[in-house]
Amino acid sequence: MASVRFRLNGLETEVDADPDRSLLDVLRGTLGLTGAHFGCGAGECGACNVMIGERAVTSCDLPLWSVADKDVTTIEGLGTAEHPHPLQTAFIAEQAMQCGYCIPGILISAAALLKQNPHPADREVRAALDRNLCRCGSHNRIVKAVLRAAAEMTTP
Ligand code: FES
Repeated sequence: MASVRFRLNGLETEVDADPDRSLLDVLRGTLGLTGAHFGCGAGECGACNVMIGERAVTSCDLPLWSVADKDVTTIEGLGTAEHPHPLQTAFIAEQAMQCGYCIPGILISAAALLKQNPHPADREVRAALDRNLCRCGSHNRIVKAVLRAAAEMTTP
């Protein structure tokens, strides 16, 4: 056990846990944030994505120690039911989900993309989401929703 400190969704956070545990396990099992999902457990599907700084990363294969002093954003920090992120509004408007299991990870990847590139082209959205797997086949609606959110976020 060790104490690891980081900023989680903008709040200073300290966790007493085995620093070799995965961040996903700590988020879900210790901190009760269940928005990031366990899919493959091997860094291949993106269901567990969180943002570290402005980069989307898989959290199932990320040891807790590696986020010490960093900014971690989970889907819970992106928006709320009362104040949704424009991406969340756009995903609803475009009906860009079916089972929804992959959606938190996809929203995190899309949010990271829009932080780095507020005006992405269609192919850039597809490239940014390339590592997020969706077994329902909602890809085209997802891309449309990300482009819609980008347009809304950059319209004065
Ligand atoms: Fe982490 Fe699949 S559960 S990448």
